[in-house]
Amino acid sequence: MSTIIEIDEVNKVFATGEHAVKNLSLNIKEGEIIALLGPNGAGKTTLISMICGIVSPSSGKIKVNGLDVVDDYRKTRSMIGLVPQELTLESFETVSNSIKFSRGLFGKKGNKILIENLIKQLSLWEKRNTKIMELSGGMKRRVLIAKALSHEPQILFLDEPSAGVDVELRKEMWEIIKNLKKDGATIILTTHYIEEAEAIADRVGIINNGELLLVEEKKELLSKMGSKTLTIELASKIKSIPKSLSSYHLQLLNNGEKLAFNYKSNDESTGITSLLMDIKKADIKLADLSTSQTSLEEIFVDMVNK
Ligand SMILES: Nc1ncnc2c1ncn2[C@@H]1O[C@H](COP(=O)(O)OP(=O)(O)OP(=O)(O)O)[C@@H](O)[C@H]1O
Ligand SMILES: [Mg+2]
Repeated sequence: MSTIIEIDEVNKVFATGEHAVKNLSLNIKEGEIIALLGPNGAGKTTLISMICGIVSPSSGKIKVNGLDVVDDYRKTRSMIGLVPQELTLESFETVSNSIKFSRGLFGKKGNKILIENLIKQLSLWEKRNTKIMELSGGMKRRVLIAKALSHEPQILFLDEPSAGVDVELRKEMWEIIKNLKKDGATIILTTHYIEEAEAIADRVGIINNGELLLVEEKKELLSKMGSKTLTIELASKIKSIPKSLSSYHLQLLNNGEKLAFNYKSNDESTGITSLLMDIKKADIKLADLSTSQTSLEEIFVDMVNK
Protein backbone atom coordinates (compact mmCIF):
# COMPACT_ATOMS: atom_id res chain seq x y z
CA MET A 1 0.00 0.00 0.00
CA SER A 2 1.33 3.45 -0.82
CA THR A 3 1.52 6.27 1.67
CA ILE A 4 -1.19 8.91 1.32
CA ILE A 5 -0.43 11.08 4.37
CA GLU A 6 3.07 11.71 5.72
CA ILE A 7 3.43 13.29 9.13
CA ASP A 8 7.03 14.13 9.89
CA GLU A 9 8.16 15.21 13.38
CA VAL A 10 5.23 17.52 13.91
CA ASN A 11 4.84 19.66 17.00
CA LYS A 12 2.04 21.96 18.07
CA VAL A 13 2.52 24.41 20.87
CA PHE A 14 -0.51 26.65 21.35
CA ALA A 15 -0.20 30.33 22.33
CA THR A 16 -1.16 29.26 25.84
CA GLY A 17 2.05 27.21 26.02
CA GLU A 18 0.13 23.94 25.77
CA HIS A 19 2.32 21.42 23.91
CA ALA A 20 -0.57 19.50 22.37
CA VAL A 21 1.33 17.37 19.82
CA LYS A 22 4.90 16.28 20.44
CA ASN A 23 7.34 15.30 17.71
CA LEU A 24 4.80 13.08 16.05
CA SER A 25 5.63 11.07 12.93
CA LEU A 26 3.22 8.75 11.20
CA ASN A 27 2.59 7.49 7.68
CA ILE A 28 -0.99 6.71 6.74
CA LYS A 29 -1.47 4.20 3.95
CA GLU A 30 -3.89 4.57 1.10
CA GLY A 31 -7.08 2.59 1.65
CA GLU A 32 -6.59 1.78 5.31
CA ILE A 33 -8.75 2.51 8.33
CA ILE A 34 -6.61 3.80 11.13
CA ALA A 35 -8.02 4.50 14.58
CA LEU A 36 -6.32 7.01 16.85
CA LEU A 37 -7.10 6.07 20.38
CA GLY A 38 -6.48 8.35 23.31
CA PRO A 39 -8.02 9.94 26.40
CA ASN A 40 -9.46 13.49 26.56
CA GLY A 41 -6.89 16.11 25.75
CA ALA A 42 -4.45 13.63 24.20
CA GLY A 43 -4.04 15.78 21.07
CA LYS A 44 -6.17 13.82 18.61
CA THR A 45 -8.27 16.74 17.36
CA THR A 46 -5.20 18.98 17.18
CA LEU A 47 -3.41 16.41 15.01
CA ILE A 48 -6.40 16.04 12.69
CA SER A 49 -6.83 19.81 12.50
CA MET A 50 -3.21 20.17 11.40
CA ILE A 51 -3.62 17.57 8.65
CA CYS A 52 -6.76 19.35 7.46
CA GLY A 53 -4.95 22.68 7.50
CA ILE A 54 -7.19 24.24 10.16
CA VAL A 55 -4.39 24.52 12.72
CA SER A 56 -0.82 25.22 11.63
CA PRO A 57 2.00 23.06 12.98
CA SER A 58 4.61 24.83 15.13
CA SER A 59 7.26 22.67 13.48
CA GLY A 60 7.51 19.64 11.23
CA LYS A 61 5.90 18.79 7.90
CA ILE A 62 2.64 17.18 6.83
CA LYS A 63 2.04 16.03 3.28
CA VAL A 64 -1.12 14.72 1.66
CA ASN A 65 -0.54 12.95 -1.65
CA GLY A 66 2.92 14.49 -1.68
CA LEU A 67 1.61 18.06 -1.24
CA ASP A 68 2.37 20.21 1.79
CA VAL A 69 -0.75 20.99 3.83
CA VAL A 70 0.41 24.56 4.49
CA ASP A 71 1.86 25.53 1.08
CA ASP A 72 -0.78 23.69 -0.95
CA TYR A 73 -3.66 24.14 1.44
CA ARG A 74 -6.48 24.38 -1.10
CA LYS A 75 -5.41 21.28 -2.99
CA THR A 76 -4.81 19.12 0.07
CA ARG A 77 -8.01 20.29 1.76
CA SER A 78 -10.05 19.31 -1.30
CA MET A 79 -8.78 15.74 -1.00
CA ILE A 80 -10.05 15.52 2.55
CA GLY A 81 -13.49 15.15 4.07
CA LEU A 82 -13.74 16.07 7.74
CA VAL A 83 -16.47 15.05 10.14
CA PRO A 84 -15.80 17.33 13.09
CA GLN A 85 -16.16 16.36 16.71
CA GLU A 86 -18.60 19.17 17.43
CA LEU A 87 -22.03 19.13 15.78
CA THR A 88 -21.80 22.29 13.68
CA LEU A 89 -24.71 22.59 11.29
CA GLU A 90 -26.99 25.23 9.76
CA SER A 91 -30.14 24.67 11.82
CA PHE A 92 -32.65 26.18 9.42
CA GLU A 93 -31.35 24.49 6.30
CA THR A 94 -32.78 21.24 4.99
CA VAL A 95 -30.69 18.08 4.96
CA SER A 96 -30.41 17.99 1.22
CA ASN A 97 -29.53 21.70 0.81
CA SER A 98 -26.95 21.53 3.53
CA ILE A 99 -25.16 18.66 1.77
CA LYS A 100 -25.37 20.40 -1.61
CA PHE A 101 -23.97 23.57 -0.06
CA SER A 102 -20.95 21.71 1.32
CA ARG A 103 -20.07 20.45 -2.15
CA GLY A 104 -20.35 23.98 -3.49
CA LEU A 105 -17.88 25.24 -0.87
CA PHE A 106 -15.20 23.17 -2.54
CA GLY A 107 -15.96 24.73 -5.90
CA LYS A 108 -17.37 21.49 -7.25
CA LYS A 109 -20.19 21.52 -9.78
CA GLY A 110 -23.59 20.38 -8.59
CA ASN A 111 -24.22 16.65 -8.94
CA LYS A 112 -27.80 15.71 -8.14
CA ILE A 113 -27.27 11.96 -8.44
CA LEU A 114 -24.20 11.97 -6.23
CA ILE A 115 -25.97 13.97 -3.52
CA GLU A 116 -29.06 11.73 -3.70
CA ASN A 117 -26.91 8.63 -3.43
CA LEU A 118 -25.12 10.03 -0.40
CA ILE A 119 -28.44 10.83 1.26
CA LYS A 120 -29.65 7.28 0.61
CA GLN A 121 -26.37 5.72 1.70
CA LEU A 122 -26.62 7.48 5.03
CA SER A 123 -30.27 6.52 5.50
CA LEU A 124 -31.46 10.12 5.40
CA TRP A 125 -33.75 9.83 2.39
CA GLU A 126 -36.97 10.28 4.36
CA LYS A 127 -35.47 13.31 6.09
CA ARG A 128 -34.02 14.97 3.00
CA ASN A 129 -36.45 17.89 3.14
CA THR A 130 -36.44 18.18 6.92
CA LYS A 131 -34.79 21.13 8.65
CA ILE A 132 -31.61 20.11 10.44
CA MET A 133 -32.83 21.51 13.77
CA GLU A 134 -35.63 18.93 13.66
CA LEU A 135 -33.26 15.96 13.49
CA SER A 136 -32.01 13.77 16.31
CA GLY A 137 -28.35 13.90 17.30
CA GLY A 138 -27.54 10.67 15.49
CA MET A 139 -29.19 11.90 12.31
CA LYS A 140 -27.22 15.14 12.55
CA ARG A 141 -24.04 13.13 12.73
CA ARG A 142 -25.03 11.29 9.57
CA VAL A 143 -25.65 14.63 7.86
CA LEU A 144 -22.14 15.67 8.88
CA ILE A 145 -20.75 12.51 7.27
CA ALA A 146 -22.72 13.17 4.09
CA LYS A 147 -21.44 16.76 4.02
CA ALA A 148 -17.88 15.58 4.51
CA LEU A 149 -18.26 13.20 1.57
CA SER A 150 -20.07 15.65 -0.71
CA HIS A 151 -16.95 16.79 -2.58
CA GLU A 152 -15.81 13.19 -3.19
CA PRO A 153 -12.68 13.24 -1.04
CA GLN A 154 -10.19 10.34 -1.09
CA ILE A 155 -9.55 10.74 2.60
CA LEU A 156 -12.11 10.92 5.37
CA PHE A 157 -11.44 12.04 8.92
CA LEU A 158 -13.98 11.20 11.57
CA ASP A 159 -13.32 12.91 14.88
CA GLU A 160 -15.17 10.88 17.52
CA PRO A 161 -17.88 9.52 15.21
CA SER A 162 -19.51 7.65 18.07
CA ALA A 163 -19.77 10.49 20.56
CA GLY A 164 -23.38 10.75 21.69
CA VAL A 165 -24.49 7.95 19.41
CA ASP A 166 -26.48 4.94 20.64
CA VAL A 167 -25.28 1.36 20.25
CA GLU A 168 -27.42 0.66 17.22
CA LEU A 169 -26.39 3.76 15.33
CA ARG A 170 -22.77 3.12 16.26
CA LYS A 171 -22.97 -0.27 14.58
CA GLU A 172 -24.65 1.38 11.58
CA MET A 173 -21.84 3.93 11.45
CA TRP A 174 -19.28 1.13 11.46
CA GLU A 175 -21.01 -0.41 8.44
CA ILE A 176 -20.98 2.94 6.65
CA ILE A 177 -17.26 3.34 7.38
CA LYS A 178 -16.47 -0.19 6.21
CA ASN A 179 -18.38 0.42 2.97
CA LEU A 180 -16.48 3.64 2.35
CA LYS A 181 -13.26 1.69 2.71
CA LYS A 182 -14.54 -0.81 0.14
CA ASP A 183 -15.02 2.11 -2.24
CA GLY A 184 -11.33 2.90 -1.79
CA ALA A 185 -11.39 5.69 0.79
CA THR A 186 -8.67 6.13 3.40
CA ILE A 187 -10.25 6.63 6.80
CA ILE A 188 -8.79 8.10 9.94
CA LEU A 189 -10.94 8.12 13.02
CA THR A 190 -10.37 9.16 16.58
CA THR A 191 -12.13 7.45 19.38
CA HIS A 192 -12.24 6.82 23.10
CA TYR A 193 -13.89 3.52 22.45
CA ILE A 194 -11.45 0.66 22.23
CA GLU A 195 -14.39 -1.40 21.06
CA GLU A 196 -14.68 0.86 18.04
CA ALA A 197 -11.01 0.49 17.10
CA GLU A 198 -11.33 -3.24 17.63
CA ALA A 199 -14.40 -3.45 15.40
CA ILE A 200 -13.29 -1.53 12.33
CA ALA A 201 -9.65 -0.44 12.27
CA ASP A 202 -6.86 -2.04 10.26
CA ARG A 203 -4.28 -0.21 12.37
CA VAL A 204 -4.46 1.36 15.78
CA GLY A 205 -2.40 4.29 17.05
CA ILE A 206 -2.36 5.14 20.73
CA ILE A 207 -1.92 8.81 21.63
CA ASN A 208 -1.43 10.18 25.10
CA ASN A 209 -0.14 13.60 26.19
CA GLY A 210 0.53 14.59 22.60
CA GLU A 211 2.77 11.60 21.97
CA LEU A 212 2.15 8.70 19.67
CA LEU A 213 2.95 5.81 21.96
CA LEU A 214 2.46 3.08 19.41
CA VAL A 215 1.05 2.26 15.99
CA GLU A 216 0.42 -1.31 15.07
CA GLU A 217 -1.70 -3.51 12.87
CA LYS A 218 -4.71 -4.29 15.01
CA LYS A 219 -4.31 -8.03 14.50
CA GLU A 220 -0.64 -7.90 15.48
CA LEU A 221 -1.44 -5.83 18.51
CA LEU A 222 -4.12 -8.19 19.68
CA SER A 223 -2.15 -11.33 19.02
CA LYS A 224 1.10 -10.00 20.41
CA MET A 225 -0.39 -8.80 23.61
CA GLY A 226 -3.65 -10.65 23.65
CA SER A 227 -3.46 -13.57 25.96
CA LYS A 228 -6.25 -15.55 27.48
CA THR A 229 -6.80 -16.80 30.97
CA LEU A 230 -8.50 -20.05 31.80
CA THR A 231 -9.97 -19.98 35.27
CA ILE A 232 -10.64 -23.35 36.83
CA GLU A 233 -12.97 -23.48 39.78
CA LEU A 234 -12.24 -26.44 42.00
CA ALA A 235 -14.79 -28.72 43.62
CA SER A 236 -12.82 -28.54 46.84
CA LYS A 237 -10.02 -26.26 48.01
CA ILE A 238 -6.38 -27.23 47.62
CA LYS A 239 -3.50 -25.95 49.77
CA SER A 240 -0.85 -25.84 47.07
CA ILE A 241 -0.31 -26.62 43.42
CA PRO A 242 0.90 -30.21 42.97
CA LYS A 243 4.47 -30.55 41.62
CA SER A 244 3.17 -32.52 38.63
CA LEU A 245 1.50 -29.30 37.41
CA SER A 246 4.48 -26.98 37.91
CA SER A 247 5.26 -26.68 34.18
CA TYR A 248 1.95 -24.86 33.61
CA HIS A 249 2.87 -21.91 35.87
CA LEU A 250 -0.59 -21.87 37.39
CA GLN A 251 -1.75 -19.36 39.95
CA LEU A 252 -3.73 -20.43 42.96
CA LEU A 253 -6.50 -17.94 43.72
CA ASN A 254 -9.30 -17.36 46.25
CA ASN A 255 -7.60 -19.30 49.06
CA GLY A 256 -7.18 -22.38 46.93
CA GLU A 257 -10.63 -22.39 45.33
CA LYS A 258 -9.45 -21.48 41.84
CA LEU A 259 -6.58 -22.09 39.46
CA ALA A 260 -5.69 -19.64 36.71
CA PHE A 261 -3.82 -20.61 33.57
CA ASN A 262 -2.51 -18.04 31.07
CA TYR A 263 -2.11 -19.02 27.46
CA LYS A 264 -1.74 -17.41 24.06
CA SER A 265 -5.01 -17.78 22.22
CA ASN A 266 -3.25 -17.75 18.84
CA ASP A 267 -0.75 -20.50 19.67
CA GLU A 268 -1.27 -23.72 17.76
CA SER A 269 -1.31 -25.69 20.95
CA THR A 270 -2.66 -23.89 23.99
CA GLY A 271 -1.82 -26.66 26.44
CA ILE A 272 -5.35 -26.74 27.79
CA THR A 273 -6.02 -30.38 26.92
CA SER A 274 -2.89 -31.68 28.59
CA LEU A 275 -3.43 -29.40 31.57
CA LEU A 276 -6.92 -30.80 32.13
CA MET A 277 -5.62 -34.37 31.80
CA ASP A 278 -2.81 -33.69 34.26
CA ILE A 279 -5.27 -32.10 36.69
CA LYS A 280 -7.34 -35.26 36.51
CA LYS A 281 -4.23 -37.39 37.13
CA ALA A 282 -3.46 -35.26 40.18
CA ASP A 283 -6.91 -36.21 41.42
CA ILE A 284 -8.19 -32.63 41.55
CA LYS A 285 -11.93 -32.34 40.85
CA LEU A 286 -13.31 -29.42 38.82
CA ALA A 287 -16.49 -27.47 39.48
CA ASP A 288 -16.43 -25.03 36.56
CA LEU A 289 -14.30 -23.52 33.80
CA SER A 290 -14.27 -20.07 32.25
CA THR A 291 -12.02 -18.09 29.94
CA SER A 292 -11.39 -14.40 29.51
CA GLN A 293 -9.47 -12.54 26.87
CA THR A 294 -7.15 -9.56 27.08
CA SER A 295 -8.85 -6.80 25.12
CA LEU A 296 -7.47 -3.71 23.47
CA GLU A 297 -8.95 -1.98 26.51
CA GLU A 298 -6.48 -3.63 28.85
CA ILE A 299 -3.59 -3.06 26.45
CA PHE A 300 -4.56 0.60 26.20
CA VAL A 301 -4.90 1.14 29.94
CA ASP A 302 -1.58 -0.61 30.45
CA MET A 303 0.19 1.59 27.86
CA VAL A 304 -1.27 4.86 29.09
CA ASN A 305 -0.37 4.07 32.69
CA LYS A 306 3.24 3.40 31.75
N1 LIG B 1 -6.98 26.40 20.51
C1 LIG B 1 -6.34 25.92 21.58
N2 LIG B 1 -5.63 26.70 22.37
C2 LIG B 1 -4.96 26.23 23.44
N3 LIG B 1 -4.95 24.92 23.81
C3 LIG B 1 -5.65 24.09 23.04
C4 LIG B 1 -6.39 24.52 21.89
N4 LIG B 1 -6.98 23.43 21.34
C5 LIG B 1 -6.63 22.39 22.11
N5 LIG B 1 -5.83 22.76 23.13
C6 LIG B 1 -5.24 21.91 24.16
O1 LIG B 1 -4.46 20.92 23.51
C7 LIG B 1 -4.59 19.67 24.16
C8 LIG B 1 -5.07 18.63 23.18
O2 LIG B 1 -6.42 18.91 22.82
P1 LIG B 1 -7.21 18.09 21.72
O3 LIG B 1 -8.51 18.75 21.51
O4 LIG B 1 -6.31 17.91 20.55
O5 LIG B 1 -7.40 16.70 22.46
P2 LIG B 1 -8.27 15.43 22.04
O6 LIG B 1 -7.35 14.26 22.09
O7 LIG B 1 -8.97 15.70 20.78
O8 LIG B 1 -9.29 15.33 23.25
P3 LIG B 1 -10.84 14.84 23.28
O9 LIG B 1 -10.78 13.37 23.33
O10 LIG B 1 -11.34 15.44 24.54
O11 LIG B 1 -11.51 15.37 22.06
C9 LIG B 1 -5.53 19.90 25.32
O12 LIG B 1 -4.76 20.11 26.48
C10 LIG B 1 -6.27 21.17 24.95
O13 LIG B 1 -6.66 21.88 26.07
MG1 LIG C 1 -10.91 15.76 20.23
